[in-house]
Amino acid sequence: MTIASLNTLPAWQALETHAIALRETHLRALFADDPDRFARFSFALGPLLADYSKNRVTTETMGLLMELARARNVEAGRAAMFAGEHINGTEDRAVLHVALRNRATRPMMVDGVDVMADVRTTRERLSAFAESLRSGAWTGATGKPIRHIVNIGIGGSHLGPMFVADALKDFQRADLSLAFVSNPDRAQIDEVLAGLDPAATLFVVASKTFTTAETMFNAGIARTWLVDKLGQGAVAKHFAAISTNLDAAAAFGIPKDNVFPMWDWVGGRYSVWSAIGLSVMIACGADVFDQFLAGAESMDRHFETATLDQNLPVILAMIGIWHADFLGSTAMAVLPYDHRLRLLPFHLQQVDMESNGKGVLTDGAVTSHSGPIVFGGGGSDSQHSFYQLLHQGPLPIPCDFIAALKGTDEASRDLLLANMFAQAEALMMGRSGADLAPHRIFPGNRSSTTLLLEELTPYTLGMLMALYEHKVFVQGLVWGLNSFDQWGVELGKELAKSLQPALVGTELKGRDSSTAGLVAAYLKIKGGTA
Ligand code: F6P
Repeated sequence: MTIASLNTLPAWQALETHAIALRETHLRALFADDPDRFARFSFALGPLLADYSKNRVTTETMGLLMELARARNVEAGRAAMFAGEHINGTEDRAVLHVALRNRATRPMMVDGVDVMADVRTTRERLSAFAESLRSGAWTGATGKPIRHIVNIGIGGSHLGPMFVADALKDFQRADLSLAFVSNPDRAQIDEVLAGLDPAATLFVVASKTFTTAETMFNAGIARTWLVDKLGQGAVAKHFAAISTNLDAAAAFGIPKDNVFPMWDWVGGRYSVWSAIGLSVMIACGADVFDQFLAGAESMDRHFETATLDQNLPVILAMIGIWHADFLGSTAMAVLPYDHRLRLLPFHLQQVDMESNGKGVLTDGAVTSHSGPIVFGGGGSDSQHSFYQLLHQGPLPIPCDFIAALKGTDEASRDLLLANMFAQAEALMMGRSGADLAPHRIFPGNRSSTTLLLEELTPYTLGMLMALYEHKVFVQGLVWGLNSFDQWGVELGKELAKSLQPALVGTELKGRDSSTAGLVAAYLKIKGGTA
């Protein structure tokens, strides 16, 4: 079905006109004119408070954005996801990560089958496996309890679990170490292995496909390391796997009791809620993982049932579209003011850019409306690095500030929050004055959203992550993109595969002069033939 062009929609055109009218209005004036602006444009959802009042929006803007959302059938798109329809058209798949955090008795259907029985059985197996490792009932090949977990994966099989594990460090058992390996540069895995006792180590090979080159390479290194130390028979007690490709995991030598399934309706970047979260579950315990799911489940219920204008993922999604399409922002910054959330920008880069970094609509037509460049870093470190550009660079970049209100040390929280609130204020207010030298002027009028968690817990973390997932989905619906495929990563993979023989000496044919020149430079140093 052809998708109506966005800019022919009345709501779109009204937003264009509105954007011109609002161009000269400074956020300072919007605040000065409306003492209730914070109350009007903030949203409390259980332990999460979202303040979007510092965005360049008015009541009229929000009304028009909601009209646009309705014109793009966001409600129907949302219902289609929860109903298990094949909304990932290019791969002909359902998209049902929400089933993974469905802790209720509600059935969730894919192709006429309720997937919840499989989801629950897998959850129970995972939790039994994790608890037996934690209690020491499960031992390695020499009878020692497992005390080191190494997650081997990449992309969604790495970024999600690594971020969550780091964020929940306070919930991890002190006598269990957890490391993540993703890079095929041996430097990484060698560094991790150097400190480990093989007899007390479990490798978790996390790969939806079990064919990803980097993961298979690292898993092979880990297996060789283990077999060298403990013999071939040890693999069964020191490897677990998560995959849709159960045969490949078995062929690798992992017994089926240690292999946990996932399903084609779980996208990699949405998979930490599945068995891909096993490393987190081992480190933190099944009850903590369950709370993490519960937080996401609460956001799912909100997203599924709230009307569009009272729906936090929808509100944030539409504000993002406002910035991208009407205010000329091609990027957004994610700025967590909590050390434990410092990896959030990396996780969100994949969630957002792998989902909506596309130039083709679901009907195949070319589009110029798609997701922003997502970047960021932990505050307040980033203040001393790239904030200069946020404050005085020529391009407006909307910012998401994120923090937890409770922390272990009050003094440090005071300092962090003072900085975070001040940055949002400075971006919004700016500074001007006839007596100021030009380089001391801050234009202000720069949008930001602040997300405050009462406390960083498994529950609030689950809420936060699900909030961003749904936000990205809603944006994809409005733009008319398939947010759930990632064909853009394929070409590079294919070319790398076809180049590999040339790097080990086979004659390189049919490549451009730059690629050939680079290969030759490598071979010259390596000592092969160019
Ligand atoms: O190359 C991108 C990608 O397919 C991601 O979408 C995915 O998260 C990652 O690779 C890892 O894939 P797998 O879990 O199959 O190893």
